[in-house]
Amino acid sequence: MVETNDQWIVERTGIRERHILDKSQATSDMAIAAAKCALAQRGIEATEIQAIIVCTVTPDMLFPSTACLVQNGIGARGAWGFDLVAACSGFVYGTTTAAQLVASGTHRKVMVIGCDTMSRILDYTDRATCVLFGDGAGAVIVEAADEGEDAGFIDFMGEIDGSGGDFLKMPAGGSRNPASHETVENRMHFVHQEGQQVFKYAVRKMYETCRDLLARNGLTGEDISVMIPHQANRRIIDAASDRLGISPEKVLINIDAYGNTTAATIPLATRDAISRGLLKKGDIALLAAVGAGYTVGASLWRWAY
Ligand SMILES: CC(C)(COP(=O)(O)OP(=O)(O)OC[C@H]1O[C@@H](n2cnc3c(N)ncnc32)[C@H](O)[C@@H]1OP(=O)(O)O)[C@@H](O)C(=O)NCCC(=O)NCCS
Repeated sequence: MVETNDQWIVERTGIRERHILDKSQATSDMAIAAAKCALAQRGIEATEIQAIIVCTVTPDMLFPSTACLVQNGIGARGAWGFDLVAACSGFVYGTTTAAQLVASGTHRKVMVIGCDTMSRILDYTDRATCVLFGDGAGAVIVEAADEGEDAGFIDFMGEIDGSGGDFLKMPAGGSRNPASHETVENRMHFVHQEGQQVFKYAVRKMYETCRDLLARNGLTGEDISVMIPHQANRRIIDAASDRLGISPEKVLINIDAYGNTTAATIPLATRDAISRGLLKKGDIALLAAVGAGYTVGASLWRWAY
């Protein structure tokens, strides 16, 4: 489709494989599949879920929200919920929000889904973006810990910086530039990115945010059992984790198998951290993401099972 080659992609990004959703399906279909997996693994009914937070920048449509489609699709009768738009930081923001709902005492089980069908908003004539992104979804259930149990959410640090908004965006399809012949002709319904700007910001902010979050909790990189970073570019992850003093074997990398799936990278990487034996009961996990907006977020969790 474009002038590129495997060597450039692997060396500059770490990506070997990406997954593309079948044309007959949309983001909510993947989200529902992921939600059903999480429910089955936990062995509970959808009716036990009290709220559903769907983190995505590629909803089926602007409204109804994908959360509503998921609620109906899994039969989560009685749940409320909403979509959360924070691009690659979506899952870090969503899980933090869920933890606060649970901590407030008003909710016992909140489902958080990170899902994006990036292939629907990629310009497959733009080699600087089309090789980077793939489709995916992952779901978790955030629950109240038992009384006295040392597990769960520890802390979160976040920041948004709208001055970086022009460097990574989809310009049309909203109220600023509603769909028209002109927006389609000008390829404005696709991802536009100034890669180097985003790259430099991501390396700096992923490091600084994690550093400050660890310091605030009296921790160093050595105290972290596993770092689960957003998977945008292997070089961003390597640079940030190296400066944090987290040894490479504790850093979950699966960008080779999925590319950048936006809000889905961290739940997919969490699943892989568990299956690789990197995340066990009592371990401290550091989640970190930087994305369009700009949006930045990092969180610390003590794993509960
Ligand atoms: C996009 C990205 C991989 C590009 O890597 P880079 O090392 O910065 O490369 P540059 O943009 O400097 O481009 C270097 C050259 O490679 C070329 N190039 C870009 N994409 C290419 C591709 N797929 N195949 C071959 N060459 C490519 C560029 O055109 C440029 O050529 P030129 O020097 O002749 O102009 C990198 O900038 C990146 O990962 N950015 C952040 C992406 C990101 O994190 N996005 C999501 C945030 S959540």
